[in-house]
Amino acid sequence: MREMTPPGIKGRKGGEPIACITSYTALTTKIVDPLVDLILVGDSLAMTVYGMSSTVGVTVDMMIAHGTAVARVARHACVVVDLPFGSYEESPEQAFRTAARVMAVTGCDAVKLEGGAEMAETIRFLSARGVPVMAHIGLTPQSVNALGGYGVRGRGEEAATMLRDAEAVSEAGAFSVVIEKTAEPVAREITAAIAAPTIGIGASAACDGQILVIDDVVGLFTEFRPKFVRRYAEVAPAIEAAIRDYAADVRAHRFPGPEHVFSAEVPKKKA
Ligand code: KIV
Repeated sequence: MREMTPPGIKGRKGGEPIACITSYTALTTKIVDPLVDLILVGDSLAMTVYGMSSTVGVTVDMMIAHGTAVARVARHACVVVDLPFGSYEESPEQAFRTAARVMAVTGCDAVKLEGGAEMAETIRFLSARGVPVMAHIGLTPQSVNALGGYGVRGRGEEAATMLRDAEAVSEAGAFSVVIEKTAEPVAREITAAIAAPTIGIGASAACDGQILVIDDVVGLFTEFRPKFVRRYAEVAPAIEAAIRDYAADVRAHRFPGPEHVFSAEVPKKKA
């Protein structure tokens, strides 16, 4: 059992803000695990790991492979794995089968799924059967084709719908609710209205916690910078400089050096 559990995250409602980050690999997880409260193995790996143009093509097997790597090394933070598009929407039973497999194989603590009131029955079904669920409302990238793009949510008449969505998923038992790219007043109203802690990504400091995609935070994903991202490092230029130096050293016979080679001598056994 990790130190941060889904009930522990739920208990942080209204308290110290909950720090969450995505991670997809073991090495990155070892770095971030002691520093955050929750790690999401997000289906954003479609873009950050696989170079896809949306999350729609992600499979359960991809999520299981990365979820297993992350859960294997995480000791502190609560590990949540995204259920990918098409693996849970059909029925509560389909969602349970997928979630149970993901949890059993990866060893994660919870799953996340996208959707509002229409997913409440599924969230209730899973929560009652031992599957902690993180809900995800506002901009739901798996529905990009239906939404027609990645625009800001919760403006105009949509504000009332989003409040109803948030209430429905929270009442159904979600232990936390991600609110993505949503107008600040709506995120604020939802946070005040529901029992589950809200985790914002582009939804303002009014939320109970924040999540960002790690590649955005460290400056590895550089194709564009969403308005809601603050970059805390510039890793891409550092990698570029390191690999430029390495390639130049190889071409100029400066690497490997004498300290990197093995002699033919058989080492003496210690007495
Ligand atoms: O897939 C993901 O990384 C996410 C976060 C952006 C919340 O869903």
